Amino acid sequence: MFTAARAPALFTLLTAFLAAPSVQAISTITRTGRYLYNSTNDRFYIKGVAYQEQGAVVASADNPFGEPSTFIDPLAQGSACTRDLPFLQQLTVNVIRVYSVNSSLNHDACMNLFSQNGIYAIIDLALPTNGSIDRDSPSWSTNLLDQYTNTIDAFSKYDNVLAYNVGNEVVLQNSTDISPYVKAAARDVRAYLQSKGSTALIGYSAINGVADWRGDLASYLACDPAGGNSASTSIDLYGLNDYEWCGDSNFETAYSATNAAFADYNVVAYFSEFGCITSPPRLWTETVSLFGTDMNTAWSGGIAFSYFPATSVQGQFGMVNISSDQTTVTVSDDFTRLAAEYSNITFIDSPTQASTAASSYPSCAAPNTVFVASNTLPQTPNEAACDCVESALECRFTPTTDNTTVIVGTLLDTGCSLLGSSGGSCDPIGGNGQTGVYGALSACDPSIKLSFVMSSYYELNGRTASACSFSGNGTVNTAASSTVSASAIVSSCIANPTAVFTPSAAPTGASGSSGSTTSSGSTSASSATSLIADTNALVGMSLMAVVSVFGAMFTLA
Ligand SMILES: *[C@@H]1O[C@H](CO)[C@@H](O)[C@H](O)[C@H]1NC(C)=O
Ligand SMILES: *[C@@H]1O[C@H](CO)[C@@H](O)[C@H](O)[C@H]1NC(C)=O
Ligand SMILES: *[C@@H]1O[C@H](CO)[C@@H](O)[C@H](O)[C@H]1NC(C)=O
Ligand SMILES: *[C@@H]1O[C@H](CO)[C@@H](O)[C@H](O)[C@H]1NC(C)=O
Ligand SMILES: *[C@@H]1O[C@H](CO)[C@@H](O)[C@H](O)[C@H]1NC(C)=O
Ligand SMILES: *[C@@H]1O[C@H](CO)[C@@H](O)[C@H](O)[C@H]1NC(C)=O
Ligand SMILES: *[C@@H]1O[C@H](CO)[C@@H](O)[C@H](O)[C@H]1NC(C)=O
Ligand SMILES: *[C@@H]1O[C@H](CO)[C@@H](O)[C@H](O)[C@H]1NC(C)=O
Repeated sequence: MFTAARAPALFTLLTAFLAAPSVQAISTITRTGRYLYNSTNDRFYIKGVAYQEQGAVVASADNPFGEPSTFIDPLAQGSACTRDLPFLQQLTVNVIRVYSVNSSLNHDACMNLFSQNGIYAIIDLALPTNGSIDRDSPSWSTNLLDQYTNTIDAFSKYDNVLAYNVGNEVVLQNSTDISPYVKAAARDVRAYLQSKGSTALIGYSAINGVADWRGDLASYLACDPAGGNSASTSIDLYGLNDYEWCGDSNFETAYSATNAAFADYNVVAYFSEFGCITSPPRLWTETVSLFGTDMNTAWSGGIAFSYFPATSVQGQFGMVNISSDQTTVTVSDDFTRLAAEYSNITFIDSPTQASTAASSYPSCAAPNTVFVASNTLPQTPNEAACDCVESALECRFTPTTDNTTVIVGTLLDTGCSLLGSSGGSCDPIGGNGQTGVYGALSACDPSIKLSFVMSSYYELNGRTASACSFSGNGTVNTAASSTVSASAIVSSCIANPTAVFTPSAAPTGASGSSGSTTSSGSTSASSATSLIADTNALVGMSLMAVVSVFGAMFTLA
C-alpha cells in the first residue's frame, strides 16, 4: 500500500503518516455540461446518504416545516465518523450530505477518514435560524457571505468536498421572489471558489413543488441573466428533494413526469433527498430506476434520507440508532434493504465525457405569474462599505446582549415604523426580488441596517438624545459629524450600490461585524433537514403565509 515499504521502520512510519492520504488520493470530480466525471473520465453518480443528526425542532405555528434551531456538526466528531464508516461502507455510499457545519471546529479526522475511503461530502453552507436567507425578509448580506466563506475556508484543504450548497428549500411556491438572493449567493460563492482555485461544485437543493415553478426555479438557477452563455451566476448541481416513490411503486407512477421535466436541463441534476416513508416498508427499489437507464440521462444519482434518526410529522426517516454512550450503531431493516439495493448498482458509463456537450447557460427567461423573480440580482455584499457606513452613523445600535437575533427584528420593525411616521424611509435597507430593486444597504449586516434606521430617526427628530435611545439599544456616536445625513453617508461609503465583485475572505474571528442577526424573529429559510414530502410541503407552504408577519417593512414596494 505504501510506496516506502522497504525503507527503515521509522522512515516507513513517517512516510506512511505523511503520505497516506495522498497515496490513494480520491479522484477529483468535474462537471462537463450536465454530467459528472471522475479523473479517469468515467461518469460519476452520487450514491449517497444524508449524514446529520437532527437538531432540536421547536414545534410552533412559526415553524411549519419543522426546521431545527440547533445542530451538531457531524464532521467535527472524529470518533463518530470512525464508528460510522463501516456502516457507510456497508451501504456502499460514495457521498454523504451534511446540512450544517461549524467552521470554527476541526474537521480533519472525519474528512480525511472519508477521503481515504472514497467518500465525498456535499456540504450545505447555510445554518439554522439566522444563518440562512430569510424567506420573510430576504437579503444576501455580509453576515451570510462571511459564514459561507468561513465554511469554505475551513473545508478547502480537503480533497473530498464534492459541492457546497448555497441553500436548501429556501424558495417556496409563495416566495419565488426571493430567488435572486439565492442566485446572488451562487454567483459570489462561485467567484470565491474560483479565486481560491477550488474545483468544488456549487449546488442548491430544491423542495419538490408543482412542476411549473419548480422547473422555472431550476432554469433560473442555471441561466445567464446577461445572455452571454456565462457560468458566473449559475449553480453546477441542482438537487431535488424528491419523495415521489413511495413503497412498492414504479418508474411510470413515481418518476416519469419529473424525469421528463428535466430532460433538457443544462447542469447536473440529482435527488438531494429521497426515501418516502408513507407506504412502509421502504424497499429502495427506486434506486434501480434512478441509477438505471430509466433516469440516468437526466440524473446523476441521489442521497437517501437519512442515516441518523430524523423524525417529522410523517414518522421516522432514520436508518440506524446510536446507543446513548455514542459507541454502538444498530441498523434497521430499512438500512439493510438500502445496502442491498445500493450494492446492486452498476454505474452506467454513458455518455462518455468526450461525447458530452460542453456546458452552456441559456439566457434567463422573463418572469411569469408562477415564477416572479427578477433577472436583476442583488449586489455582492461589501463588508468594507458597510463598515464605513456604520462608523460614520450618528446613532448606533449597541446591544447589551450577544443574542441579538430576536431584538434586531423587533427593533427594525419598530424603527421602520417610527421612521415612516417621521417622514423617513426604510427603503435603503430593503430590497425587492420581484422588481429587482435593492437598497444600497440591503447587503449589509442587519445590525448596520438597524444603526441606519436609528440614525435616520435621530436626525429627523432634532438629534435629541432621547431619539437615539430605543429603550437603551441605541448610543450616540460622538465621533460622528452632526451635519452629514445618514443617506449622505450611505452614498459616500457605497459609491456603487449595484457592484458585483469577487468576495475576499471574511475578517478572522468575525462573522458579521457587530453581533449580526436575522432581521425577523419568525421562521427563516432553513439549511436544515427537510422532512417534508411533496404533499406535506404544500400544507407547509400555506402556513408560511400566516407567519409572514414581518415582510412589509423590509420589502420595497
Ligand atoms: C472512476 O469511476 C470508475 C467507475 O466507477 C471506476 O472504475 C474508476 O476506478 C474511477 N476512477 C478513479 C480514478 O477513481
Ligand atoms: C461553533 O463552535 C464554537 C466552539 O465550540 C462555538 O462557540 C460556536 O457557538 C459554534 N457556532 C455555531 C454556529 O454553532
Ligand atoms: C400560497 O400558496 C398557496 C398554495 O398554492 C395558495 O393557496 C395561497 O394563496 C398562497 N398564498 C399567498 C400569500 O400567496
Ligand atoms: C431505534 O429506536 C426507536 C425508538 O426507540 C425504535 O422504535 C426503533 O425500532 C429503533 N431502531 C433500530 C434499528 O433499532
Ligand atoms: C439489481 O440490478 C439489476 C440491474 O439494474 C436490476 O435488474 C435488478 O432488479 C436489481 N436487483 C434488485 C434486487 O433490485
Ligand atoms: C447569528 O446570530 C449569532 C448570535 O447573535 C451571531 O453570533 C452570528 O454571527 C449570526 N450569524 C449570522 C450569519 O448573522
Ligand atoms: C436568544 O434569544 C431567544 C429569544 O429570547 C431565545 O429563544 C434563544 O434561545 C436565545 N439563544 C441563545 C443562544 O441564547
Ligand atoms: C432593546 O430592545 C428590545 C426589543 O425591543 C427590548 O426588549 C429591550 O428592553 C431594549 N433595551 C435593552 C437595554 O436591551
